Amino acid sequence: MNSVLENARYIDLFAGIGGFHQAMNSFGGKCVFVSEWDKHASEVYFLNYGIRPAGDITQILETDIPEHDVLCAGFPCQAFSVSGKQKGFEDTRGTLFFDIVRIAKHHRPKLMLLENVRNFTRHNEGKTLKVVLTTLKEIGYNVYFKVLNASDYGLPQNRERIYFVCFRKDIGIDYFDFPQPAIKATSLHDVLENNPVKAKIVDRPDIVFTRNYSPDKDFNDEVLFPNRPIQIGYVNKGGQGERIYSPFGHAITLSAYGGGVGSKTGLYLVNGIVRKLSTRECARLQGFPDNFIIDISDSQAYKQFGNSVAISVLKSILNEVSKIKTQKIVLDNKPINLSKVTKIAELRH
Ligand SMILES: C[S@@+](CC[C@H](N)C(=O)[O-])C[C@H]1O[C@@H](n2cnc3c(N)ncnc32)[C@H](O)[C@@H]1O
Repeated sequence: MNSVLENARYIDLFAGIGGFHQAMNSFGGKCVFVSEWDKHASEVYFLNYGIRPAGDITQILETDIPEHDVLCAGFPCQAFSVSGKQKGFEDTRGTLFFDIVRIAKHHRPKLMLLENVRNFTRHNEGKTLKVVLTTLKEIGYNVYFKVLNASDYGLPQNRERIYFVCFRKDIGIDYFDFPQPAIKATSLHDVLENNPVKAKIVDRPDIVFTRNYSPDKDFNDEVLFPNRPIQIGYVNKGGQGERIYSPFGHAITLSAYGGGVGSKTGLYLVNGIVRKLSTRECARLQGFPDNFIIDISDSQAYKQFGNSVAISVLKSILNEVSKIKTQKIVLDNKPINLSKVTKIAELRH
């Protein structure tokens, strides 16, 4: 019995600073190829993992990419535009999703893990999602997808993303259960630094508090298990990046772009001071370990963490994948008539 993750060689496309790398390596994966065209993110990738990413994926021939078992890609949504009628695979030409597809068609990885923004389901009135699902099916994959919130998987950050888990059809995995939410109260407080030197403080006369919130004073169910952002005030007009939250709830979604005095992280009232989050706090909010080397440029680092995948969610998904055992070792690129797949829990009995 073996799992598709056993000794898995994987490729990391649209790699950013390696959220997929962190998760795959924690399951024994070996990274054999990386693509990322942003020079700052690439440098951070190299400093942390010793691999220099290849650049623009559209310029890389699939034949120049090594064989692999798992394809990982947190592909950018904004570059995905589907025009014309829904013609499945043909419609994806000219998009970055097409690059994933052409690589998968050539290498036939056993598993593909894809991630995108929550709104992906609604993009182009749902046609984009339909084309993605049809295309992946056409090239021979069973596809499972779900919107999951990092807040429900051990990270104190409200971050809803769509995750796709795609098994090559011939390995016979024709079901997948996404992980159940963790029943655990967490708060931003858990990941705050004691004395962050790099967290911008906001000291302005136009700060307005709308709610006095601390776990001791405001004792109710929400406090016991908030697991969501709790807004307690605002600055200026309270637009994006201008809202103030309690550290006893969760952080808002880290974002690569966006303005306001609390841009990219939001504002939090910590020990009587209104401030942004430090880049290390952002790293922790995405599940990066404390030995992760962060970009020396704060603005690049905020962008990178805003773009990154939530590592704990991926780990929870991979944990479910690892429980599924195929009955035979699947040989690369050779169609095998494999039928029976059983969950390890069932196999134990
Ligand atoms: C949503 S982010 C993915 C971040 C990554 N999952 C992580 O954990 O850090 C998308 C990344 O794709 C990169 N990208 C966009 N177009 C690209 C291309 N044509 N070739 C290579 N990388 C590209 C961007 O620079 C960005 O870092």
